Amino acid sequence: MSEVSTKAKNYFSNFVTNYSNEFDDYTNVPIEATELYAEYKKFPLDLTHFNDLYDTLIYSRLIRKALELQKAPKFLVDFGAGSSVPTLLAIKQSKLADLKAIAVDIDPEALKVSKQNAEALGLSDSYVFKQGSMKSFLQNSTFIKGETLVVSNPPYIPAPPDTSDYHLIPINGGVDGADYLLDILNYEHPPGTTLALLWGSLSNPSKVIPLILEKYDILHMNAIRIHFGNYTKLPHINSHLYDLREKGMVVFDNDEINGETQIVIGSILRPKLPENNKRWIGH
Ligand SMILES: C[S@@+](CC[C@H](N)C(=O)[O-])C[C@H]1O[C@@H](n2cnc3c(N)ncnc32)[C@H](O)[C@@H]1O
Repeated sequence: MSEVSTKAKNYFSNFVTNYSNEFDDYTNVPIEATELYAEYKKFPLDLTHFNDLYDTLIYSRLIRKALELQKAPKFLVDFGAGSSVPTLLAIKQSKLADLKAIAVDIDPEALKVSKQNAEALGLSDSYVFKQGSMKSFLQNSTFIKGETLVVSNPPYIPAPPDTSDYHLIPINGGVDGADYLLDILNYEHPPGTTLALLWGSLSNPSKVIPLILEKYDILHMNAIRIHFGNYTKLPHINSHLYDLREKGMVVFDNDEINGETQIVIGSILRPKLPENNKRWIGH
């Protein structure tokens, strides 16, 4: 490994050690053996062509935790909602009858599945579905109101330039994987917003972490080690990941016992108050 990749790995590892409240190692745990899967199987839910159940269910657990931490939010906005399985399961369990959810996705097929799933769980009245790119919603500075829980499992895997394959839309986070994450993190979220984001060691952590530490307080963080999956093993994505690792832009391990493993991060964040507000609250 190059010097810059070792530096990136150490920076990421220190962040995980210093800020994670929990660490799960799922490298030897089939998804079917997890308590997350048992909860998911209780309901008649469909998935979209986003094919990574570890991600979907870990994300749902993260949303459940965020709903606990942000006491009774009025609104939840899910950027890249897909099947909406993660939010639906979390809302069902939290029994927040008054919560209104806005599910945003670029893929109309995904929103069709989302609607069917919301009906199946009796939560249709709690949902509004908005088709379009999260990028355009995030250009509207008033789209997110206060007391909102903003959640996202955005496309966060790096893909070579000009990758436009439909099947990769759910994971294609741009050349370094951080494209959508940076849009969400750079939005000026109003005070009272909480964010629950799924991302990880493949989303240019050396760029994402300083932005998080500058703009947000970390309320809770879970790190989860998983094997490379359906997408990261695709030959053109896989070789791109090795190129980026040499440049210090992604972090992953590859050893004889475990093969290729990455760390997924579930982080719950709150925008830092501007210095003026802090002084005002202190009076
Ligand atoms: C990683 S998948 C997550 C799906 C679902 N939230 C889950 O966790 O199972 C990312 C989702 O983002 C959607 N997506 C991709 N690009 C988008 C964009 N520019 N704006 C909004 N959604 C987008 C994809 O269609 C996909 O449903």
